[in-house]
Amino acid sequence: MDILKLIVLAFITVLAAMAANFGLDWAYSVHAIIIMAFSFFLFVRGLQHFGSPKPAIETGYMDDVVRAGVIATAFWGVVGFLVGVFIAFQLAFPVLNFDLPFTTFGRVRPLHTSAVIFAFGGNALIATSFYIVQRTSAARLWGGNLSWFVFWGYQLFIVLAATGYLLGSTQSKEYAEPEWYVDIWLTIVWVAYLAVFLGTIIKRKEPHIYVANWFFLSFIVTIAMLHLVNNLAIPVSIYGSKSVQLFSGVQDALTQWWYGHNAVGFFLTSGFLGMMYYFVPKQANRPVYSYKLSIIHFWSLIFLYIWAGPHHLHYTALPDWAQTLGMTFSIMLWMPSWGGMINGLMTLNGAWDKLRTDPILRMMVISLAFYGMSTFEGPMMSIKVVNSLSHYTEWTIGHVHSGALGWNGMITFGALYYLTPRLWGREKLYSMSMVNWHFWLATIGIVFYASSLWVAGIMEGLMWREVDPQGFLVNSFADTVAAKFPMYIVRGTGGLLYLAGAIIMCVNLWLTATGAGERKSNAAHAVPAE
Ligand code: HEM
Ligand code: HEM
Repeated sequence: MDILKLIVLAFITVLAAMAANFGLDWAYSVHAIIIMAFSFFLFVRGLQHFGSPKPAIETGYMDDVVRAGVIATAFWGVVGFLVGVFIAFQLAFPVLNFDLPFTTFGRVRPLHTSAVIFAFGGNALIATSFYIVQRTSAARLWGGNLSWFVFWGYQLFIVLAATGYLLGSTQSKEYAEPEWYVDIWLTIVWVAYLAVFLGTIIKRKEPHIYVANWFFLSFIVTIAMLHLVNNLAIPVSIYGSKSVQLFSGVQDALTQWWYGHNAVGFFLTSGFLGMMYYFVPKQANRPVYSYKLSIIHFWSLIFLYIWAGPHHLHYTALPDWAQTLGMTFSIMLWMPSWGGMINGLMTLNGAWDKLRTDPILRMMVISLAFYGMSTFEGPMMSIKVVNSLSHYTEWTIGHVHSGALGWNGMITFGALYYLTPRLWGREKLYSMSMVNWHFWLATIGIVFYASSLWVAGIMEGLMWREVDPQGFLVNSFADTVAAKFPMYIVRGTGGLLYLAGAIIMCVNLWLTATGAGERKSNAAHAVPAE
């Protein structure tokens, strides 16, 4: 087996070297060099350990890979937020584009969206799903080191995607920007992820499949399907990054927003609900409020989400009936979404007093509150007349971030605080007051972010439609941009607060993992020698 691994790695190294040499564009050649370096490194490591006796197979839970996932989540979170703050100020001060191709808003923006959604969110989902599926199935992860392949393979995907954007390689599909070979790589990693997750469920010792695993499984399977269909493309050359999409025109647009909306539905919602269904009951030390409700809202959520994509294409060339269909399903989606929120919040029944003393639980509750808010706002924005005002405006960006910062961010922070002491064998977190600081900085940051953009969005939407008695537009586009300047500054400040909170979290988690908290409390209790 070891020899086969070495042969494959050597083969990949040589192929990548050839690709780097023949590459038709910058991004492709740089990527080939990264892949060559990566596989060469693994080859040398494999060679060093060749023939050395294998460590005995452990029987407990496989937590090393979860620990790595926790570190990656925190790391990519800070990177993604930092880039978010940078592009927020670029919009206010265009000089920050530095007149360089690599640092223009157009290239850095997808770096932000991919860093926060796929690197921060994706690592959080992979790490927590690996942790949860083992505990709720009473089984070690299936597939041995396959979970490490998933972890490192996913990091390689992130590095290829991020460097590709900065070098100008994109297939111009929002949230699916990476080019064909990066997509193929992600497909391989994702299939391995599905195998590890499903394999663990199949060999479970617990007869019941806990509801969190249902949500995770729907996330993994649907993302595979979306990724495959939306990325159907033919490369122009196998030595270049450019490819041509299989679909064109309105079919392409519909496929893209079927993908885009369900990335929200299954990546940012279903997967994170899986996280919620484990960590909220654990942290509150209460059972899930209603198991029946969790099943009803699971099936209705996944059935309805898949039809709602056309609300991104209101008033376009998409047939009217399809737009109305998207709108109708989006409105219906309000109920199963709130089913999840209600189930999460009501789990605290009888434990509400804990909110006064436990900032981690407070973080989880505010996350559910933002989930509820954005899933009320979304159905409202999908109504065609409302969308005629909100579309293309900052309102959409405000909606995105009340969901992303409030719901996805806060539940992830809660999960990281829950996991770190347990994974590193510490009694508790280094500092609860730092968690409290994080909570308030993040919450105030989101309020700044969302409220400034609601004002900016509604203002610019109204300015765009204002006409004088002769029927001429009153405002030029530049007028609306100038009017948004103060709101851009408030949004950027909100982002800075949110970032500051995340940095405090990283310090706290680091000190917890390294045992600084225990040294501190031991020192406090030390009795001086007489
Ligand atoms: C410090 C925190 C953050 C800041 C300052 C920030 C800032 C920004 C900015 C300035 C944009 C571009 C808006 C535009 O084109 O007008 C953006 C887009 C976006 N961000 Fe963030 N962001 C932050 C965190 C996050 C997080 C945590 C997520 C997801 C988990 C996220 C997801 C997105 C998405 C999906 C878009 C694209 C929205 C669209 O096209 O409608 N952001 N962000
Ligand atoms: C019932 C649930 C939801 C519905 C019906 C919904 C509906 C909508 C609508 C109508 C838009 C505006 C489309 C446009 O005018 O271009 C939108 C944009 C968006 N929403 Fe939601 N939303 C929901 C929940 C969420 C949640 C929970 C999140 C994040 C965690 C989210 C993330 C986004 C993103 C990223 C976009 C921007 C897409 C883009 O243009 O790039 N949505 N949503």
